Amino acid sequence: MITIRSESAGDEQAIHDVTAAAFKDHPHSDQSEPFIIERLRDQGALTLSLVAEDEGHIVGHVAFSPVTLTPPVAGWFGLGPVAVLPDRQTKGVGSRLIREGLAMLAGDGAAGCVVMGDPDYYQKFRFGHESSLVFPGCAPQYFMALAFSGAVPEGTVAYHPAFGAE
Ligand SMILES: CC(C)(COP(=O)(O)OP(=O)(O)OC[C@H]1O[C@@H](n2cnc3c(N)ncnc32)[C@H](O)[C@@H]1OP(=O)(O)O)[C@@H](O)C(=O)NCCC(=O)NCCS
Repeated sequence: MITIRSESAGDEQAIHDVTAAAFKDHPHSDQSEPFIIERLRDQGALTLSLVAEDEGHIVGHVAFSPVTLTPPVAGWFGLGPVAVLPDRQTKGVGSRLIREGLAMLAGDGAAGCVVMGDPDYYQKFRFGHESSLVFPGCAPQYFMALAFSGAVPEGTVAYHPAFGAE
């Protein structure tokens, strides 16, 4: 049975390994994803880090971190990286991680969440294209937002510096 829970001390290597395995053959990956998670954690910006565990083994992971909006709007987060072990994909694990993470963020009073990725996948979770919110450097069709309450603000989005560091 798969359980979704917050990461705890000692999960770091398994999270790295699951993320590396999931992105290994991904056409748009530079294999930086496991290191992004580590930098977010080191810099205190891993707001929410959920693992999917099956019989004591971590088979999936999702990270959420704060994003900066200009002009400033508080309470927005970015989803990702999200990863499920290749032989455990398409069985609903990724969806459970994402749904649970979004519900926890919303429950904690977050304003909304953005994501960069395949629109066919993220539309399932009510992410949509919002022309008012721009993420420079990403083709608009791959950038989506979900407001938990109120409207999607106008502005430019920047992910945490941990996403860009070498
Ligand atoms: C993306 C990922 C986390 C999804 O996890 P998952 O457990 O396989 O996903 P789920 O089982 O919850 O969802 C599967 C459904 O989404 C679809 N799906 C999975 N990945 C998809 C993708 N990249 N684009 C479109 N649809 C996708 C499946 O066809 C399936 O559809 P169905 O429910 O209609 O049958 C996982 O495939 C993964 O780790 N991929 C490699 C890393 C990656 O691409 N991360 C996201 C980068 S933005």
